Amino acid sequence: MKGIILAGGDGTRLQPLTFAASKQLAPVYDKPMIYYPLSVLMLAGIQDILVITRPTDLPVFRALLSDGRQLGLNIDYAAQDEPRGIADAFRVGADHIRGEQCALILGDNLFHGANLPTLLHHSVLKMSGCVLFGHEVADPQRFGVAEIDPRGRLVSIEEKPRRPRSNLAIPGMYFFDTHVSDITRDLTPSARGELEITDVLRAYLELGTAELVWLGRGVTWMDTGTHESLLEAGTFVRDVQHRQGIRLACIEEVAMHMGYIAPDDCYALGAEMGTSPYGQYVMERARFFSTGMPPTAFSDDL
Ligand code: DAU
Repeated sequence: MKGIILAGGDGTRLQPLTFAASKQLAPVYDKPMIYYPLSVLMLAGIQDILVITRPTDLPVFRALLSDGRQLGLNIDYAAQDEPRGIADAFRVGADHIRGEQCALILGDNLFHGANLPTLLHHSVLKMSGCVLFGHEVADPQRFGVAEIDPRGRLVSIEEKPRRPRSNLAIPGMYFFDTHVSDITRDLTPSARGELEITDVLRAYLELGTAELVWLGRGVTWMDTGTHESLLEAGTFVRDVQHRQGIRLACIEEVAMHMGYIAPDDCYALGAEMGTSPYGQYVMERARFFSTGMPPTAFSDDL
């Protein structure tokens, strides 16, 4: 399965932070925002990933992640010259997908939870049609919203409805079968001139092949697209890391955990950042992984 991280857009809601730099490179506590969705694709077992950005941001993302080989990945890049909508990712990424199944994740979405890897594997393995997720929120009118019937079946999907039919928001992570490019090709832009992801999902719903997977209480999902939610996400990451002594979305650790790289390679990546607490953590985890020794308490900013 191929993966796409959509990391373009003008980030207008985060201005002036986004005048000179991409939103998806903004720090969420100790790492760039894009590490969070990248680690989710990696946990889903996806190693072939396309990062879509604004043309001006492309070299910076390339400098950050290069071709992904250091993480056992293959990372490609493509530019979206105008923010033409989330579903435009399938047009920009048509060559990357080339008739394969595909996962799309938004570059500003953060997921965390113990059962997340299981949910992701279920989505990859059982998928026919598309898989979207549902997460209960207090402010559904800010998101795509799913309505379900009393038997838990998906019955409608709406984008930012003024009067939401449920409190089940649809997070920015979706899995699609090989028809997604064809479906997107036939799509017409919405009133705001964008190719809406909810129209793609609705097309699958009409075909009877859209599966809604409930994220449940065990998974935290955050959209980090506003000043408030960005700070909230940073505080959440800091709190979890501080309490548990582990780091979220540490892509080097995930790569080692998934068997994409060997512990020695992981250690070397940590050593390159050895003066930072993050680098020391990566080295510590690699040592732990190869020796089975519990990691020593790391004295850093946690
Ligand atoms: O976060 C989940 C929500 O994401 C979903 O519930 C909604 O259904 C979905 O439409 C989307 O809503 P947003 O209001 O968050 O969409 P936004 O326009 O902010 O775009 C989301 C991300 O995608 C953002 O990081 C920028 C990027 N993007 C967006 C567009 C429209 C692009 O890279 N290119 C684009 O053309």
